[in-house]
Amino acid sequence: MIGPGAYMQHPASGGGAWLGWLLLVLGGVVAVLVAAGPLYRRRWPVFWWLAIGLPVVAWRVVVRWRATMAGCHLAVSRKPALTIVANLIGGGSAPPAPKVPRRRMLHPTRNGFWVLVRLLPGQVPEDFAEAAPALAHAWRVHGVRVTTTERGLVRLTVTALDPLRDPQLSRLRPGKGELLRVVVGALESGADWVLDLRLIPHWLIVGATRSGKSTLINALVAGLAPQPVALVGIDCKGGMELGLYAPRLSALATNRPGALELLAELLKLTQDRMALCREHAVRNVGALPAELRPVPVVVIVDEIAELFLIASRAEKDEAQSTATALIRIAQLGAALWVFLVVAGQRVGSDLGPGVTALRSQLGGRVCHRVADPETATMTLGDLHPDALEAAQAIDPGQAGTAIVASGDGWERARSALVSEAEAQAIAQQYAHLTPALGLGRTLPIPGPRTAADDQPTDLRKR
Ligand SMILES: Nc1ncnc2c1ncn2[C@@H]1O[C@H](COP(=O)(O)OP(=O)(O)O)[C@@H](O)[C@H]1O
Ligand SMILES: [Mg+2]
Repeated sequence: MIGPGAYMQHPASGGGAWLGWLLLVLGGVVAVLVAAGPLYRRRWPVFWWLAIGLPVVAWRVVVRWRATMAGCHLAVSRKPALTIVANLIGGGSAPPAPKVPRRRMLHPTRNGFWVLVRLLPGQVPEDFAEAAPALAHAWRVHGVRVTTTERGLVRLTVTALDPLRDPQLSRLRPGKGELLRVVVGALESGADWVLDLRLIPHWLIVGATRSGKSTLINALVAGLAPQPVALVGIDCKGGMELGLYAPRLSALATNRPGALELLAELLKLTQDRMALCREHAVRNVGALPAELRPVPVVVIVDEIAELFLIASRAEKDEAQSTATALIRIAQLGAALWVFLVVAGQRVGSDLGPGVTALRSQLGGRVCHRVADPETATMTLGDLHPDALEAAQAIDPGQAGTAIVASGDGWERARSALVSEAEAQAIAQQYAHLTPALGLGRTLPIPGPRTAADDQPTDLRKR
């Protein structure tokens, strides 16, 4: 900045001129910012936020603090008696203003700010949580989250723009994660969305067509492919989806009879592992000596409805057996390192009684935009009824956005955009890491149907 002193020596006659120039330059800067603002904001969101967004929002917060608190029912009026006294003494003058919670300094972040607020006597953090949507509207920000760190204080964490609208997902580094932990996208909080199979072994992923299910599976496969894990696919739509990763899959079933055989083999594998654990007196395969520890198996099922829907009496038994096998694998699998990731467009009671039993075994849930409320209710309703509203508000224009829920809570998230071509290339690159489990040896490689489709599966063990 140039100090005014430098101009003081100019002759008085020049004063008007430099003021004119200054205004012109300032006007120019503002015009450029207004014109280039959207570009600037898209290219450098953090700089945009710190240079322009933050001062505007901070002004709104600071200057209107009292009015906002009062408007959001967070102010506490003084004792009525005091109001009467004020009336008597003041001769009808305005009663004392209500007390508002005191705010500390705003702390800027890359995408918003946080601020500590002291609760007034009688207030609880829930009062702020309830007022959070109103605060977000008042400050014209994307969201306000309320947490407590210390008794008597709440922390308001403000996100200015929807971080999921344009997540900076370039940080996705398949293979850099720990075993069975994969960064598949970003959470609304700005943190990585980590799908951790060791923490939550089985997952249910739902979403309407083109809501982002396959993209999430791509990200998961891209992350798991470089790790020492076996990937097994069940894709009864003829292997159209999971067939892409065929080189990295230890087995792939592309129709229901194939799926049934594969599941029977997987069940046998879990039972063998169980026997191994019993033999060494341990409760899970992770506790086995390293040289005996079997490879983790991640079973990916695309389109659960293809396994459960029935058209004839004969199919009923097949569907029933498939459901039972899946449920048993889910029940036994976690400790034996057999993990399930089940995706589907919809889950509903019409898929048969097995679907509810399976759902209760799948502790992790990902709900993308869905076409029917029942699917959202089935996916999230038993864990977090309050997440339903957020699931139904997912913008169709923001494919990949989902509600991620588990027993612990729920969050909005968006998967990394890993295209089919990228996932395919990664599967090819790490094809040499594919463990031979001896599963589904005779299952066909996806492609035109061959006579081999109808051959019984080789049931050799690993
Ligand atoms: N996380 C994401 N970020 C950006 N675009 C996405 C994301 N997920 C999906 N999309 C877009 O949506 C399209 C459909 O996604 P896809 O995963 O194939 O949906 P589904 O398998 O549910 O039918 C993708 O081709 C992509 O353009
Ligand atoms: Mg798909």
